[in-house]
This record gives sequence, C-alpha cells and structure tokens, in this order.
Amino acid sequence: MRTDIDQLLTDMTLAEKLGQLTMAASSYAVTGPVIAGDSTQAIKDGTIGNLLNMIGAGPTHEMQRLAVEESRMRIPLLIGLDVIHGHRTLFPIPLAEASVFDAAMWELTAREAAKETAADGLALTFAPMLDVSRDPRWGRTAEGPGEDPWLCTQIARAKVRGFQGGNLASEDAVAACAKHFCAYGPVTAGREYASVDISERTLREVHLPAFVAAVDAGVASMMPAFTDLAGIPMTAHRPLLNDYLRGKLGFDGVLISDYNAIGELLKHGVAADLVDAAALALNAGVDIDMMSDAYRRGLPIALERGLVRMEQIDASVRRVLQLKERLGLFDDPYRRGARRETAEALEKRRRLARNVAARSLVLLKNRNDTLPLAASVPRLCVLGPLADAQAEMCGPWAAAGYEGPHVTVLGGLQNALPNTKIRYTAGVAIADGDRGGIAHAVDLCEGADAVVLCLGEAHNMSGEAASRAYPELPGQQGALAEAVFEKTCALKIPLIVILFSGRPLIVPWLDEKADALIAAWFLGSEAGNAIADVLIGRASPSGRTAITWPRALGQVPIFFGERPSGRPASSKDYFTSKFLDVPNEPLYPFGHGLTYGRCTYANLRAEPASVTENDTITVRVDVTNSGARAADETVFLFTRDPVASVARPLLELKGFARAMVPAAATQTVELTLKASELRFLGPDLAQVFEPGTVEILVGPCADRAQLLSTSVRLQA
Ligand code: GLC
Repeated sequence: MRTDIDQLLTDMTLAEKLGQLTMAASSYAVTGPVIAGDSTQAIKDGTIGNLLNMIGAGPTHEMQRLAVEESRMRIPLLIGLDVIHGHRTLFPIPLAEASVFDAAMWELTAREAAKETAADGLALTFAPMLDVSRDPRWGRTAEGPGEDPWLCTQIARAKVRGFQGGNLASEDAVAACAKHFCAYGPVTAGREYASVDISERTLREVHLPAFVAAVDAGVASMMPAFTDLAGIPMTAHRPLLNDYLRGKLGFDGVLISDYNAIGELLKHGVAADLVDAAALALNAGVDIDMMSDAYRRGLPIALERGLVRMEQIDASVRRVLQLKERLGLFDDPYRRGARRETAEALEKRRRLARNVAARSLVLLKNRNDTLPLAASVPRLCVLGPLADAQAEMCGPWAAAGYEGPHVTVLGGLQNALPNTKIRYTAGVAIADGDRGGIAHAVDLCEGADAVVLCLGEAHNMSGEAASRAYPELPGQQGALAEAVFEKTCALKIPLIVILFSGRPLIVPWLDEKADALIAAWFLGSEAGNAIADVLIGRASPSGRTAITWPRALGQVPIFFGERPSGRPASSKDYFTSKFLDVPNEPLYPFGHGLTYGRCTYANLRAEPASVTENDTITVRVDVTNSGARAADETVFLFTRDPVASVARPLLELKGFARAMVPAAATQTVELTLKASELRFLGPDLAQVFEPGTVEILVGPCADRAQLLSTSVRLQA
C-alpha cells in the first residue's frame, strides 16, 4: 500500500517535519551539544523520527510502537547501527576482508550481516565505509577497503547489493549508507578528524569513484565526512553534496550527517551558532541531523531569517519518508525482528565467518615452508598477548558482537589439535611496560616443536579516533619477540608470528626474524579456528594485502598508484627520487600474499593488439604451480599508460582473477578489460580516451619486478 507522502507533508507541523530530520542515539551522548538521554517522549511528540545505536527486536519494536501508535502522525522510525563487519556474528574487519579479492564473498557477508541486523529490528546500517586510505597512522584504515580506488568501487557495489538485497522492503534487507563522503582518508598526518587538502584530480581519480559506484548500485543513503575539503567542511559542502551528488549523479537517497557533524561546523569555524550551522547543512543537502539537534533548534530561526526555505525542509522530509516507504516501514514497522533466526542459520553463518576469515588472513612470509604444521605436531608453545584474547579478535566496530564467543588462537589450536600438548602464556600485556612475564614465556619454549607468537594491537587501537604516530608493536611486545626469537634459534625450532592489527604495522624486524609471519588483522568471531585451519593446512592461505606495508613510517604515504618522478630512483644518477636511509620499496607491496603453492607466470598475451574504445581486451597468462600443495592464487591485472596528456600512475589496478592451481600443474588464467576502462581525466579533468600504447601487466602483486608485461594499441 503506497503511503500518501504529500498528505503527510501537508498535515505535519514544522516541529514534526524537523523531527523527521533528526536522529538521536538511544543511549546518552557525550560529545558536545547533542540530544542526550531518553528519546521516548520526543518520539511520542513526533519530534524525533529516527534513532541510532539501539539493538534488539524488543527495544526497537517498543520505540516503533510509540511512534506508530502514540504519536499524532504515526510515522515509523528509521533505526540504524554501525554494522561494519557483521552484527552478532563478526566477520573480518573490512581491510582484512578486502584481502579476499572476491566480490561474491564481499556481497555474501554483507547479506548475512543484513539478516542479523534486521532480525534485531534495525533497517539501516552505516556501512559500507568507502574511504581510500594510504596512511597506516589513520585508525580508520581498518574500516575501509585499502589504498586502491578501483578495488574500492568493486567493494562498494558488492556491499550495497549485499546489505540492501533485491528488495529493500524485505524483512532481511537494510538500507546501506555509503560513507564518509568524501576524501576522509587523506587527513593531515594521518591524524583523525584533521583537515584535508588534496588536488581536484586526486579527489576525482581516487576518492570519488567508490561513491559513484555506490550510487550506481542504488545505495539508499550516504554520510558526509566529519572533515573539511580544502576549507569547506563536507557537511556544508554544497558543490559536492547538492550539485555533484544530487545534481550530476542523480543520487535521490537520504544524506545523514555524521554524529554531531552539523554542530561541529562551529568548531570548523564556518558557523557562528547552530542556526548558521543548520542553514549551511540544509542548503548543502544534508537531510538528517545526527545528534547535534541543530535542525530542531536552528531551522525555525533560519526560516524566519530567510536563510532557508520551507521547500527545502519539505524536500528533505520527503526523501526521509520515501526511504521509510521503500523499507516497508509504513506497511509493517515490526517486520524486521518479527522472526528469530534459526539455529541452523546461525551455525551456517559461523561457518561462513570461519571460511572468510581463513581467506582474509595474509601469509606474509613462510621461510622454508615452515607452514603448514603437521597435524600430528606433538608439542606447541603458544605465546603473546593476542593468543587468548577473545575481545580483541573482533577488532573495531563490533557493537553487538562483543558478546562473543569469539574463538582465540589458543582456542582454535586446541580445537584443531586435540592430541597436541599445547602450553601457553601471554608473556606481556598488549600495551603496558611490564616485562616480568618474558622469562617465563621463554622458558615455556623448551621442548616445543614450534612456537606460535601472537602479537599486535588491541581492538581499540584502530578504528575511529585511533590514529597512531608510531604504528608499530605496542608496549613490550618487541622485547618479548626478541627474547622468544633468541630462544627458538637456540632450540632450532620455528617461530611463527601471528600479527593482529587494524592497519599495516611497521615490522621490518619481524619480517627478518620470523620463520613464518601472518597478517591476521582482526578476523572476527571465528578468528582462532580460521587461523588454526591455515596453520595446519586444513585451509590454504590466499589473502592478498589490499594496502601497501611500509618498511618505514618515513615512506608514508606509500602506494603503488603514485605518479612518476622526473628523476626516478631506477636511474643510476645520484640526484634521484630516493631516501638516503631506506629503500623506496615497501616491506610488502599491495597484493602480496603467499599460498602453500609456488606459482610462476608465463606466456602473457593480450588480444586484440589494437582496440577502439568500445572493444574488450582479453588477457591470458599461464600460471604454473611448482609447489607440492595446491595454490589458491590471485592474479592481478594492472595497466600503465607511459605517455599521455597528463602524467599517469606507475600502475593502475584494473582487474583480478582467482585460480585454484593444483600442485605441479599449469593453468591458463583469463581476464577481460573493457578498453573504455582506459579512459582517464585529461588536463582539464574531462574524461578522455587517448590513442597510444598502453602496457598490460599481470602478476601476483603491485611489484613491477614480479609482473609480466605486454601492450595494446588504443585507436581513436
Ligand atoms: C561515528 C562515525 C560514523 C558512524 C557514526 C554513527 O562518529 O564517524 O562512521 O556511522 O558516528 O555511529
């Protein structure tokens, strides 16, 4: 049944309209001039129409009842939550999941997260986060898709499809919210919420594409970033929100401010009071005011002063009501959460969580095939502050999932190796200065056949408001690692390090000393079982890092898509683009990740040799696995335009393919590339397709030395 939105708009008072443009947290808020405490009376008065941070069908249905049965206009609530990487069943953090390079998997985990979210009575998630990041100091790198804009577009599409499903009114669909629009990732010095100042070209080539993809995929809502862009805060950025998003891209969804972001326009120094702030945000196109109360308190005065028009308020209210209508909330506000999920569905989801976790970890190093361990390994020593740390396994943004249970490394190994004698101690805490437990940890190595050392960050050392100036091992973990390394050398037993983090850590020492090194990021509810599966070879490691790992913080920002220097380090001259004290190469390039096979590439060919814009290029390469075990290989396709009307990136990611290559076998892997994907922004930032030769490069990661290269000719 269609809702008569026109009639609602006619009948609503200004206060009720502004209620529909207000979103309040159900719990007390502490950040500034925000709505705090209990919203129930406001819901009955119709002066709050949306909520966030509420969990559970009980509480959400109670709030819906107040709105649809006790308020005058009976408009259902839109209730949202940050479901960033799973809800009650936690999947790997987005930076980890980006490593699977599998769009179907990205979509599936979002679909499953949507089912749990909707089962809790929620109709909106503030995800996917699509901020490209090239600075590991920034804590929110953990929440995003890594460094590459093209990869980010693939993830954007998959996540929007997954969260929203085929029918937004379905009981298991939730509205997605593409965030944070835009260019939040390049905050100054990687410091959270700091100012952003980048070129128009970088904005368009790097930070906008994922949001364009999200709009193409039909994303229902978007969230502007807290940050400014060259002096204009995104929450008040009329050219990008109104003119570009709504005007050029035709985005007709709802723009939801970030938490108190409208109120923070005062801190940005572009608004003298909440009236100014409310007018700036509404004029820019922001529909819902999350938590600053600027719209309810400021817009009536802004109307009187002629700073805004009622038509603008009505247009925003209409978009909010249309979203509620599309979500089926008018038809049945209790649809989401009406049915509990079955035990089978939950068990199946945990199996998925285990599978995607095993595929998200990245085997960074595996000297002399240290891994996999024999399943019959008699004695293991498991050490480190992250070895038996349930709460840490979920990583940042795990609102509902904290209840666990999350499987730790120790738990996973005990499950996988019931006949193995496993000894454990943390040795040190994650971050404090106490070294007292190191001696005992070292002693525990005696008699072991291998040591598994679990190190890294706590779950809250990345994510929001968690920038780190020294993105390294915290506390005394380095001292523990050195002591354990010395002991394992003396005992001539392998040292296997599992590294937990929400970002690439600066760990050249671990790269040098560990026999095997795994980036486990934060893998969610089934972390320990997934890690154990890979350690004993029940699962094959296939993850490929979606972000470059710096060798030194001084290299940051370091990413494969950099534009060339006029004095490249490759030339033997003294005066070249280099550091005196560290090589230019990263510790691990984008796409790096080992399998249990050993793949080499040969016989790259691209057809046809010459193409026009409407053609498709077919690229084939032979992948040979000379290893003794099957390889779950990811093959990347890059391009390089060596001569163009503007300097083009040294490498551009344009595709990937996964191939299961059996031991001692060769497989031909095929990738296709539309020639139109080779368009770029010319000197005047207009899209161009330029005739000329373009390199096609294929290989295991964004290290040119490991790529095979051929070329195609572009014809006008
Ligand atoms: C936070 C985050 C945003 C989140 C919102 C609601 O501050 O910046 O990503 O969706 O507030 O929790």
